Amino acid sequence: MHILVTGGAGFLGARLIQALLAHDHGATIVSLDRVVCPIEDARLISWVGDLRDAGIQAEIPDTRFDAIYHLAAVVSGEAERDFDLGMAVNLDATRTLLEICRAQSHTPRLVFASSVAVFASDMPAPLDRYSAAQPQSSYGTAKAIGELLINDYSRRGFIDGVVCRLPTISVRPGRPNQATTSFASAIIREPLNGEPASCPVDPDLAMWLSSPQTVVANLVHALTLHGDAIGALRTLNLPGITTRVADMVSALERSAGAEAVARIEYARDPAIEAIVASFPARFDTRREAALGFDQDRDFDAVVAAYREETGIPAHAPGD
Ligand SMILES: NC(=O)c1ccc[n+]([C@@H]2O[C@H](COP(=O)([O-])OP(=O)(O)OC[C@H]3O[C@@H](n4cnc5c(N)ncnc54)[C@H](O)[C@@H]3O)[C@@H](O)[C@H]2O)c1
Repeated sequence: MHILVTGGAGFLGARLIQALLAHDHGATIVSLDRVVCPIEDARLISWVGDLRDAGIQAEIPDTRFDAIYHLAAVVSGEAERDFDLGMAVNLDATRTLLEICRAQSHTPRLVFASSVAVFASDMPAPLDRYSAAQPQSSYGTAKAIGELLINDYSRRGFIDGVVCRLPTISVRPGRPNQATTSFASAIIREPLNGEPASCPVDPDLAMWLSSPQTVVANLVHALTLHGDAIGALRTLNLPGITTRVADMVSALERSAGAEAVARIEYARDPAIEAIVASFPARFDTRREAALGFDQDRDFDAVVAAYREETGIPAHAPGD
């Protein structure tokens, strides 16, 4: 199976490639990203280029890709700051990629990483896959248009699309990024590493969260679903867990003690808060669960998975 992963050098893209290589030992994968994919594997080719460039676009049809994961994107904070860049990558390049697929003689599976940013917070909860997209950010708007295009290109048989609306991911290892939700990882990750963290939102704010491990497993699962099982509406809300920021901090305390929690400083940032508070936190994902998508047990399990993966030893009572 030949698989193209746009954004393959990114946080989720690189993890997804690793999971796909482990899942299907016969798979060959191309990562298309502005930077080199960090994974070394004989079955992986790393194309370095910008998805907006005609040169790299022209390379795609030379391989008959059975599946395409479209993950390349300008994340929420950057797309809000730079409207032109956000629309060029998140909307125009998505449309171009769909046109490249349409020109193929076969119908590739296309899995699109969308986001709960397509919704508004004041919509009646819980939301489900029939809830209308009403984004309140430029990032969410571009993702919502991408979703509609994928539904229509699938209806016409140009692609076999699946839209996965990802919950906010926590805990993301590494350094903070330009996503408005970056703090949702930083308030756990930095204190566990003995570093200070800043929380820009009201601790009462509820978020729809998933661990990276669960999101990646669900993206791999999206590849295997039969189109008929999904139905005409190709948009799915990946399962998450509704968690208040204060509950995240409580889970940190149970995992690493009061000393870790004391490293969090609360400094509200109205610009970040306005966007993050517009992302809804309660969903009914029974249909997605019936399709076989997985869910984290609770936020304690998310913190434990992060500690295990990064090798941070478990907290012993009295530490
Ligand atoms: N991480 C989250 O919490 C989250 C939540 C919802 C949706 N998503 C979506 O999941 C996808 C992956 O997110 P991530 O967290 O891995 O982001 P990321 O920023 O780590 O990765 C995105 C990758 O896309 C690449 N890219 C950006 N513009 C490009 C272009 N013009 N041409 C080629 N490559 C380009 C970047 O170099 C980067 O490696 C994105 O589409 C994002 O919108 C992520």
